Amino acid sequence: EWAERGAAKIVRQVTNPDTGKTTRQVVKKGIKDFKFGETLGDGSYSTVMLATSKESGKKYAVKVLSKEYLIRQKKVKYVNIEKNALQRLNNSRGIVKLYFTFQDESSLYFLLEYAPNGDFLSIMKKYGSLNEDCACYYSAQIIDAIDFLHSKGIVHRDIKPENILLDKDFKVKLTDFGTAKILEPKPNTTDSYDLLSRSKSFVGTAEYVSPELLNDNYVDYRCDIWAFGCILFQMIAGKPPFKATNEYLTFQKVMKVQYAFTAGFPLVVRDLVKGILIKQPAQRLTIPQIKSHHFFKDKNFKDGSIWDEPAPEIQPYKV
Ligand code: ADE
Repeated sequence: EWAERGAAKIVRQVTNPDTGKTTRQVVKKGIKDFKFGETLGDGSYSTVMLATSKESGKKYAVKVLSKEYLIRQKKVKYVNIEKNALQRLNNSRGIVKLYFTFQDESSLYFLLEYAPNGDFLSIMKKYGSLNEDCACYYSAQIIDAIDFLHSKGIVHRDIKPENILLDKDFKVKLTDFGTAKILEPKPNTTDSYDLLSRSKSFVGTAEYVSPELLNDNYVDYRCDIWAFGCILFQMIAGKPPFKATNEYLTFQKVMKVQYAFTAGFPLVVRDLVKGILIKQPAQRLTIPQIKSHHFFKDKNFKDGSIWDEPAPEIQPYKV
């Protein structure tokens, strides 16, 4: 069942010319209200395209999911997870906004915030690596966004450069919550979730997958912190810490936590990465510890100013 809650509704005042009576009509947005443009990205069971509102000219990224495919591949569940996660996270910095959802006979549509500066994978490909200043700017926003989604009871489970988008001001926007885990609020409390809930099902991308998932098929919110550590390493080194010619060999490296810092890798980042890429999740640095690490000494996470500072000019890391 595709829930209608949170769907795009605009209420219009309509006055009947004969009776003079004014009534309110709910008008639902549909594909007819948008002009579809270029393809922005392809997922395993979806395509993201540029969409422009015919009424306002505002640009959106529309994620189109084929119903037939979703049913055949038994992915309907994941679409609902994505929608529920995005609705729970709506209006938060660092997370892509979901504006409308609708459907027609063949497809489901998610009207998402358009991030015109593309994804972090493209940035990494273009520049190879990032200098310390850039790495600090982007990683501060990424860890703060992860902190936020955890505080809302959501584990992303597939944090990777492709899922980190950049808006018009080069601010981070996490996307793709189709593999997220939504935790139920703890009973008898108002704003806290049982973040230690166990979850058993394989998700994630080889290079960023945590050892606990490979070993015991067990993950909790700390898998997102592991992925963050891999991405931070990659920003400086220009390649993820665990990379091999095939998935199997990559998994072996992950399980053994077998990685090596590149020559000239800055000591302060080295120290932080070492604290995160630890096999035992309980021994890994926590988000508050990461935020108070020396690498982030010039960042104030408490007052939100990391989201207000201008993006540094992107430059590769030079030894
Ligand atoms: N690619 C995938 N999602 C996107 C979005 N929301 N904005 C821009 N490009 C995207």
